[in-house]
Amino acid sequence: MKTKIFGLIVLLAATATAIAANETSEVTMPAEGSVSVEEGLEAWSRVYEVASHPRCSNCHTGESGIPMWSGPSYGKTRPHGMNISAGESRIGAEFVTCGTCHIKTDRGNTVPHAAPMVNMDWQLAPAEADWFGKSSREICEQLRDPERNGGRTWQELAEHLDHDLILHWAWNPGGGREPAPYSLLEHIDDVLAWGVAGMPCPQG
Ligand code: HEC
Ligand code: HEC
Repeated sequence: MKTKIFGLIVLLAATATAIAANETSEVTMPAEGSVSVEEGLEAWSRVYEVASHPRCSNCHTGESGIPMWSGPSYGKTRPHGMNISAGESRIGAEFVTCGTCHIKTDRGNTVPHAAPMVNMDWQLAPAEADWFGKSSREICEQLRDPERNGGRTWQELAEHLDHDLILHWAWNPGGGREPAPYSLLEHIDDVLAWGVAGMPCPQG
């Protein structure tokens, strides 16, 4: 398979006050053939640490449509309180919309146990991107399958990561929540390395 390599410029044009303003960084696309399968698998294992972290997986909960409350700030793992369900709309349109509490604002998050807020519509990830409690292999196979990853190439997956303010929040959540591991830029680098290596997935 021939992969077209292009320079990927990642602009961290931060709007949220919690994020350092006007930060601009460049991510370098690794050259074709420069990342071995073994190195690709190492990069994947770090991608998995991120994907399975509560800041990501609480929102990537699959068919149930029910967000999760998990991670140290929640004490024990449990479904989102107040009978919240995202429904097929994934935004709770059939019930109470997520935005009722997860207000669209860029004022950041400081109050523990308040609903996290970002300056875009808060909603559950698509049902196919079901990560909560899933193994490294399961998440890897979902993410490399265009039928289940929103029709994205690995380059597009990496680009998508920066376009989403929710992701910026996950690395800077405030309110006493633990940020996702590594950094957004390191995560993008790992996704690119995994992609160039041919998207290898762990066996077993
Ligand atoms: C507030 C809920 C929410 C959180 C938290 C969240 N996501 Fe998502 N995620 C979404 C939504 C909604 C989409 C679909 C967006 C789209 O397709 O444009 C999505 C899609 C994705 C995709 C596209 C691939 C696919 O299979 O659909 C990736 C990759 C992704 N998220 C990564 C992450 C990572 C990494 C984190 C944590 C650092 C995270 N997400 C946290 C809601 C969330
Ligand atoms: C009635 C208010 C309310 C509604 C409606 C609501 N939430 Fe929440 N949500 C909260 C509160 C409050 C918290 C934080 C609870 C805490 O930290 O103890 C929260 C936390 C979360 C978290 C955990 C984030 C993290 O990693 O810490 C996710 C995921 C989430 N909500 C998703 C959703 C989705 C998706 C919807 C719509 C389908 C939704 N919520 C609707 C109040 C609400």
